[in-house]
Amino acid sequence: MSNKVTKAVFPVAGLGTRFLPATKSVPKEIMTLVDRPLVQYAIDEARAAGITEFIFVTARGKSALEDYFDNMPALEDELRRKGKTDLLETLQATNMESGTIAYIRQHRALGLGHAVWCARRLIGDEPFAVMLPDDVIAAEKPCLAQMVEAYQETGGSMVAAMEVPHDQTSAYGILDVQEDMDALVSVRGMVEKPAEGRAPSNLAVIGRYILNPSVLENLNAMKQGAGGEIQLTDAIAQDIRGPNNVYGYRFRGQRFDCGSKAGFLQATVAFGLARADLRDDLTSFLQEIMIAQAAE
Ligand code: G1P
Repeated sequence: MSNKVTKAVFPVAGLGTRFLPATKSVPKEIMTLVDRPLVQYAIDEARAAGITEFIFVTARGKSALEDYFDNMPALEDELRRKGKTDLLETLQATNMESGTIAYIRQHRALGLGHAVWCARRLIGDEPFAVMLPDDVIAAEKPCLAQMVEAYQETGGSMVAAMEVPHDQTSAYGILDVQEDMDALVSVRGMVEKPAEGRAPSNLAVIGRYILNPSVLENLNAMKQGAGGEIQLTDAIAQDIRGPNNVYGYRFRGQRFDCGSKAGFLQATVAFGLARADLRDDLTSFLQEIMIAQAAE
């Protein structure tokens, strides 16, 4: 089995209820961070890591997502005609080569593990990445590229990892660390959303994975885990008992939880401040607002 990672799965079937009423008609993944939909950040990160095949696990009501990845030749012609080269380049940078993007329906919301399992036939017998577009990671070297590099050395399934406050461990998959080797940790167990006081550490799984295809076999059992859902964490943890090691990778970068309103707003501010065309306006606005708040 080659250890080259060329396929990525994007589970995007979630209902996005935390963003109602917006998500009545707009899929969460299309919601805009500065000027690009959330999912574009994940796609760009995947491309930077050498991914060439993109598999979306979708659900009813997500057709706007498929439309987003369509090319717009008429608009491109129009922009070309008007000499709007910058906009044309922005638009063209989002074009996907025909045949590199696939959509699979998850017919029932049975959990993240089940969503990934739905893509099993497209993945086949090779290592693959999973990216949760809710987790947006600002990093000099994109997170998945960091992981692919580490994976070439280690083999074995790998999850992105980050320390979280102890009182938040029940919102994550949590690693039981066997050996801590700085950025890399080897893992002896993983628990999805441990009950309070039961977390083996505060090292949490963040939504970037490189997985061996054996994880898909583990998912065949359709075992329910935390919250009655088929959990990806459990299927990865099952591999630890097999011949494969499993690793956590402490990535360099800042992660934003864009699945929550507060996280989405924080990401909007941080990504806005990182943009040369927005920085000055945004900075003075934030300063004014902070001064006004302090005076209240
Ligand atoms: C999912 C995973 C969890 C992981 C988290 C990271 O949970 O199941 O293991 O820690 O993403 O964002 P969710 O946030 O979908 O409940």
